[in-house]
Amino acid sequence: MRVLGIETSCDETGVAIYSEAEGLLAHQLYSQVKLHADYGGVVPELASRDHIRKTLPLIQAALKEANLSHTDLDGIAFTQGPGLVGALLAGSSIARSLAYAWKLPAVGVHHMEGHLLAPMLEDTKPEFPFLALLVSGGHTMMVAVKAIGEYEILGESIDDAAGEAFDKTAKLLGLDYPGGPLLAKIATQGTEGRFKFPRPMTDRPGLDFSFSGLKTFAANTIAKEGDDLQTQADIALAFEQAVVDTLAIKCKRALEQTKMKRLVIAGGVSANQRLREQLAVMMEKLNGKVFYPRTAFCTDNGAMIAYAGLARLKAGQTLDLAVKARPRWPINELPPL
Ligand code: KG4
Ligand code: ZN
Repeated sequence: MRVLGIETSCDETGVAIYSEAEGLLAHQLYSQVKLHADYGGVVPELASRDHIRKTLPLIQAALKEANLSHTDLDGIAFTQGPGLVGALLAGSSIARSLAYAWKLPAVGVHHMEGHLLAPMLEDTKPEFPFLALLVSGGHTMMVAVKAIGEYEILGESIDDAAGEAFDKTAKLLGLDYPGGPLLAKIATQGTEGRFKFPRPMTDRPGLDFSFSGLKTFAANTIAKEGDDLQTQADIALAFEQAVVDTLAIKCKRALEQTKMKRLVIAGGVSANQRLREQLAVMMEKLNGKVFYPRTAFCTDNGAMIAYAGLARLKAGQTLDLAVKARPRWPINELPPL
């Protein structure tokens, strides 16, 4: 079975072809980062228009990369939610119409399920069950994963998502959008121990997160200490350490609670080097193992959508002919396979 995957939930147009027998056959990505840069964040209307421009050419490029024609495909998977409604509708309309024209089954994929399954695209994949820490620009979630579609949300952010906190703090430090990777880069020049940021919500039981206070802490620190280059790097380091520590403390707690030994991290922030290293050390101490996607598949991409879509199409889950987007879609409402 070969599935075309289409991702258009936010500011990246991703198209990929995944084969059950041969693995990933093509992966094309167009990032809109430059388009939104002047605005300091994603402008939904511009994002939708750009997905309309880019999706079909990327599909053609993916077919060419895989040396396939559309007649070699067995289904089309697309991101149906959660995300920006216009962006989702652009991808859904194109995907659903192509599937109709090409007489293929279509399936709508949950964007966070895509992220959660992205480590399955790697050689070392986790076996079920596992604990998943999903950390993206829009969501922060701790999920107990029994199997595909069997998700129990153990905790989530009550305010900003981890990636959002990175981006907002980066903005305060004068960095461009999306600032997460840029903040991580300047943090490597930071002085260890100059500033100490709080570890929010770690002093009480539970697995929920709160990151908006860290941004305020950063703003206050900048106001007090100034923002010369070294101070910026020192603040970036202290902020990154606080986020990573907080995520690690909650992962440890969730692992103890669920008695699981495998931890998956996925979503844009799982590209963060400090997070990966700290969790690797922690998992070794706990006699467990951490799994994550390659950097290109931590952030939004079509490959994870093709993979998740293939699993659901194989189980016979298909969509009717209507074009429907689900901008809000709790992951625990997904059906099992
Ligand atoms: O998963 P993703 O591409 O989009 C959403 O579904 O939201 O995640 C993007 C987020 C952005 O907030 C970005 O700043 C963050 O992931 N990010 C990082 C790093 N790379 C991407 N945050 C911290 N360190 C990184 N290396
Ligand atoms: Zn995402």
